Amino acid sequence: MELKRNIITVYETSSTMDLAKEFSKIFLPPFIVRAFIQTKGRGQYERKWQSTYGGLYFTEVLDLNNILGFSTFLSIPILRVLKRFVEKVKVKWPNDIVIEKKKLGGILVEKSNFTYAGIGLNVQNDVKDFVNFSVSLKDFVDIDKETIFWAILEEESNLIDKFFENGFKNFKKEYEENLAILNKKTKVNLGYKVVEGVVVGVGNSGELLLDENGKITDIFSGSIVNFYE
Ligand code: BTN
Repeated sequence: MELKRNIITVYETSSTMDLAKEFSKIFLPPFIVRAFIQTKGRGQYERKWQSTYGGLYFTEVLDLNNILGFSTFLSIPILRVLKRFVEKVKVKWPNDIVIEKKKLGGILVEKSNFTYAGIGLNVQNDVKDFVNFSVSLKDFVDIDKETIFWAILEEESNLIDKFFENGFKNFKKEYEENLAILNKKTKVNLGYKVVEGVVVGVGNSGELLLDENGKITDIFSGSIVNFYE
């Protein structure tokens, strides 16, 4: 699937997630909505996503039957591109893009009539207000957000058909090789309780495999509270 063909770019919007939903009333997917600034950028768990000029903010609108593993898959083209510039970029399950423990980017997937996959990356924007837990590519390398944007779309266009055919499992090994929490003692919030164990990998659908004192649990949904060296 070619993702570079239909792109709507605006200078500023509240959130490309919402604008993409508006455009889906008049355009058929696949298409992408991109903005240079978001005034109400949002992340997972209703967190705010700081979206000042210089970052990369876009939402892909796709017509997918099955989204199992899709958001985890999406981290693969992003990792491949970012690692060309900063080798130590990793993924923190399920799809936080990190450098050491600091967040460089994130993915938000929302499903309604279509699948809306929002990607936010700190590229040339300043993250000084959030410096304790965020990081920007510009702190490591002088790189233009346009280069990153087009390279991600190119890489994803080349990989997405393989995801449609066989799901996430083809990407499992590459994902694990780049997983920041692999073999680390990790605390995971499941929403109704917090569990702790050692991450031993991911399953064929991108679920986290956590070893809790010898018992392996499959976690399909949750967020990492912390992990330890
Ligand atoms: C997360 O890590 O919590 C996900 C962050 C996703 C941010 C992107 S920026 C483009 C799109 N529009 C939004 O409002 N959010 C996503």
